[in-house]
Amino acid sequence: MDSIGAIGLQQREGFPSCSQKGLPCPSDSSELVLECLQQFKVTQTQLQQIQTSLLGSMEQALGGQASSASAVRMLPTYVGSTPHGTEQGDFLVLELGATGASLRVLWVTLMGTEGHRMEPRSQEFVIPPEVMLGPGQQLFDFAAHCLSEFLDAFPVSTQDLQLGFSFSFPCHQTGLDRSTLISWTKGFRCSGVEGHDVVQLLRDAIKRQGAYSIDVVAVVNDTVGTMMGCEPGVGPCEVGLVVDTGTNACYMEEARHVAVLDEDRGRVCVSVEWGSFGDDEALGPVLTTFDHALDQESLNPGAQRFEKMIGGLYLGELVRLVLAHLAQQGALFGGCTSPALLSRGSILLEHVTEMEDPLAGAARVHAILQDLGLSVGTSDAELVRYVCTAVFTRAARLCGAALAAVLSRLQHSREQQMLQIAVATGGRVFERHPSFLSILQETVMLLVPECDVSFIPSVDGGGRGVAMVTAVAARLAAHRRLLEETLAPFRLNREQLAAVQAQMQEAMAKGLRGEASSLRMLPTYVRATPDGSERGDFLALDLGGTNFRVLLVRVTAGGVQITSQVYSIPECVAQGSGQQLFDHIVDCIVDFQQKQGLSGQSLPLGFTFSFPCRQLGLDQGILLNWTKGFNASDCEGQDVVCLLREAIGRKQAVKLNVVAIVNDTVGTMMSCGYEDPRCEVGLIVGTGTNACYMEELRNVASVAGDSGHMCINMEWGAFGDDGSLGLLRTCFDANVDQASINPGKQSFEKMISGMYLGEIVRHILLHLTSLGVLFRGQQTQRLQTRDIFKTKFLSEIESDSLALRQVRAILEDLGLPLTSDDALMVLEVCQAVSQRAAQLCGAGVAAVVEKIRENRGLEELTVSVGVDGTLYKLHPHFSGLVAATVRELAPRCAVTFLQSEDGSGKGAALVTAVACRLAQMDHV
Ligand code: G6P
Ligand code: BGC
Ligand code: BGC
Repeated sequence: MDSIGAIGLQQREGFPSCSQKGLPCPSDSSELVLECLQQFKVTQTQLQQIQTSLLGSMEQALGGQASSASAVRMLPTYVGSTPHGTEQGDFLVLELGATGASLRVLWVTLMGTEGHRMEPRSQEFVIPPEVMLGPGQQLFDFAAHCLSEFLDAFPVSTQDLQLGFSFSFPCHQTGLDRSTLISWTKGFRCSGVEGHDVVQLLRDAIKRQGAYSIDVVAVVNDTVGTMMGCEPGVGPCEVGLVVDTGTNACYMEEARHVAVLDEDRGRVCVSVEWGSFGDDEALGPVLTTFDHALDQESLNPGAQRFEKMIGGLYLGELVRLVLAHLAQQGALFGGCTSPALLSRGSILLEHVTEMEDPLAGAARVHAILQDLGLSVGTSDAELVRYVCTAVFTRAARLCGAALAAVLSRLQHSREQQMLQIAVATGGRVFERHPSFLSILQETVMLLVPECDVSFIPSVDGGGRGVAMVTAVAARLAAHRRLLEETLAPFRLNREQLAAVQAQMQEAMAKGLRGEASSLRMLPTYVRATPDGSERGDFLALDLGGTNFRVLLVRVTAGGVQITSQVYSIPECVAQGSGQQLFDHIVDCIVDFQQKQGLSGQSLPLGFTFSFPCRQLGLDQGILLNWTKGFNASDCEGQDVVCLLREAIGRKQAVKLNVVAIVNDTVGTMMSCGYEDPRCEVGLIVGTGTNACYMEELRNVASVAGDSGHMCINMEWGAFGDDGSLGLLRTCFDANVDQASINPGKQSFEKMISGMYLGEIVRHILLHLTSLGVLFRGQQTQRLQTRDIFKTKFLSEIESDSLALRQVRAILEDLGLPLTSDDALMVLEVCQAVSQRAAQLCGAGVAAVVEKIRENRGLEELTVSVGVDGTLYKLHPHFSGLVAATVRELAPRCAVTFLQSEDGSGKGAALVTAVACRLAQMDHV
């Protein structure tokens, strides 16, 4: 040990090494000693001030306002609940930093049943001083070396080694296995560690060492290990208190009070880090000249002022400084010091413990002092004992005041007048010095008489608690692996997406040629996008999306004005008889006409009918099959315009002139085309999904003519119905398909559109629950209910502006009982499902625009896509992902996406207007 500190003390305070004055007589000596020890007295008022000031500092830090370096840190850990007692398994534990210069390795077996315990195996290693102060890598290499030495000595049968790392320094934790050291405390000062993740440093060292493959699963502070390892008594242990080399406490705080956390439910364990408490006002009056001297000679002057009055690393040193001072004053050892007494670190915690112990006897005190090279007089042993008692008592009382602050905080946050609580205690000061606990207890009773506190000594020095946290962390890590495995098939790479694009282009070509293909490529008889010369008043119907709407569209030179009304189509009507459905539609039209004062007028009507129809002309459309939630009988194979006209006929009072039937993709393209002539593609991503685009007429086998263009309704929802998407389909897609009203149909749509994404998510959640990954493995009736997970929830949950707790609230409203971990996983499931949907949709758009470019033999194509649909519009990331995928897969096309603002009803009116214009021209 160097003696620089001691020399410094001599120079600063002018202490001679041996008293030059005449020696005081023994009674004067004891007076001098007692007078000196007065400084170590802490009054009740001072204790109360410390309690209040610490509480204030804690509350400020919780609120995120702590600014001064002397404040406590209140660091949230990732421990959210006290142990269930069901944790089990074998765990390696590495303890660094709690007990002086030693490092401990333990092998802990958790039995999974309360009350059953197996003694852990452990080994202690002394860390050489140069390692404690050297480069960080050397310290972690030393730790890795100790781990393999331990495992060499105690071979274990398992290959699967999971380690919990007890690292007892202030750290910012960002996960159960991520923790950045803020600053070293106590006797450590290794370079290159502050500001770094200590788990990563340990993992790297274990890898460098190479002897064993050990997974570092969790990192915890010693206070947390102490609390978590405690055998639950009447209630759970919710405070962990450590007085070892350093001192600190942790406790279970309400998560909503911790500003840095994005969480408003449940509790979280917070490490107070009260060692850094050093508020001048509160500590100033109790700091002695010895405290200042000790601080100055420490590795971290000015820091951890509170810890330096309590922690075991400092108690021996305080006693040494007092004894040296008293010797120099002539009050002890015949006025003589010794080189050892003037050397920093020569009196250790265990010396003080022994000398203070009334049972140890004067002979033992003599022996310790003689070992320090001191000449011990008759009264010296007793006076030295006073010194030890004074230093110890002050430490215990200060620690009691600090614990009282934590208890007041708990009382306040739990809103309980009477608090009944168990505190787990750990560390050598408690273990070796029983009176420390009794003084602390007295102080607590004095300061918070309304708290009923039981103190429970920690088990295995906190090792068991670390193993408990490790068990939880290991379970969470296993869950994460299962989640990743489950979601892996949803994560498509570029090659997969390019293959979808290529298959789509091939299916388009086949469909156009009239060959067997899952893409029907239906001609729409729309040959041109609007030219702006269209005029007149039109009625429009819009059926097949979320809403059924009737519209009045006025197209004038000044623009388009729309008046519309939404009507509901009850499920029983959508899935009842065709006659009933079309009668209902006509009823709605009649109602609309009456409300708009249009009764008796026969305006030209455009019908947006968003289902696959084989058109034989603009006003003829044979429904091929229903999709989405519709299944009205006797409609498939019928001309929808006829069905509508028949219903009109049944209601003799109305006259309607049905001019055109239009798919919603076409309506959207036309509507956007009115604003932007480059719009030659229509895309819908809503309840269902589909696209249309302007094709060269010569490519359309089923329509005569070789020049000009025709809009083709691709009906891409059915893409893959021939099995070509087989490799991409997951078992969840199969489940959704099986439970739908049209199994085996609309494969592409069922992977993309709003009607199905929520269901896919629900099936994944069911699977993860069955694996025990979610909702603690408990299946709920709610989650088994079809369609409870609406696609709009995906849009809400994935919104960037939403905090995790809001995600949780949405899911809880659905009746799903979940933890924050669950909420995060559900979010990830949603992201994976919607990302796949957007990318598949992007691959489809890439196929379409490439086809147009190739048709025209262009190097580069500039084109716009008119888009509509609730999923596309409401989901926070869908549109961005579609665009990114198109850029990636069709780099030679500059594609602009235009969102349709007025729905496809406006487009249907425009198609009708064009048809009327052409009809008039025919007549002319
Ligand atoms: C458009 C149309 C609807 C169409 C819908 C798709 O605006 O007016 O008829 O089917 O968008 O969106 P949705 O999300 O309602 O299915
Ligand atoms: C550290 C704490 C630790 C305490 C007890 C302090 O120096 O900052 O993290 O809990 O010592 O070991
Ligand atoms: C229909 C299409 C429609 C799409 C979007 C699909 O289910 O088959 O005709 O365009 O949904 O609404």
